[in-house]
Amino acid sequence: MEIVSLREAFNKFKPESCVFVISIDENGKPSGMIAGWNMKCSMDPPLFAVALKKKGHTHRLIQQSKEFVVAVANYELLDPLMVFGSRSGKSTDKFSETNVKTSKAVHVKSPLLTDATINFECELYKEVDSGDHIIFIGRILESHVNQDKKVLFNVKKVEGKRLFEEF
Ligand SMILES: Cc1cc2nc3c(=O)[nH]c(=O)nc-3n(C[C@H](O)[C@H](O)[C@H](O)COP(=O)(O)O)c2cc1C
Repeated sequence: MEIVSLREAFNKFKPESCVFVISIDENGKPSGMIAGWNMKCSMDPPLFAVALKKKGHTHRLIQQSKEFVVAVANYELLDPLMVFGSRSGKSTDKFSETNVKTSKAVHVKSPLLTDATINFECELYKEVDSGDHIIFIGRILESHVNQDKKVLFNVKKVEGKRLFEEF
């Protein structure tokens, strides 16, 4: 057993599933980001939580629109994932940049990702301050699954590069 930095300990605490968190601005324009810090957190009511950093753009969209979509990634979505997970929605239209395919949701205005393994349509249920992040808890209004697809995990970081596998 050795004492290490928090960053190193958190990095060891993997794999983490990768989800796109998508919301819309006041004109209905979508943007989003990737969140490895995500979890199912209640069956009744049906709830899902994501921790988004306060410095980012997406959390502001959710605070305004009170809704978001959680789209679970797979290997096919790795290229868009790298864009959504590294660029700021303030200066980049990540949807037109990546040409990622979208579908209309049933209950929310934010789009689904057509090729995601799972899409959860969420309305904002609760917002919890958590230091440099905000935890958004979404009430799941609808769940969509592509039965033939797997779930992508960020397995570890080697020399600053993230490695992914799907299960
Ligand atoms: C695999 C992966 C996991 C990530 N997990 C998180 C996370 O859980 N929370 C977070 O705030 N940022 C996370 N990020 C970083 C954001 O997705 C990234 O900073 C993004 O560009 C923010 O976009 P925005 O400013 O448009 O919201 C992750 C990035 C990657 C590639």
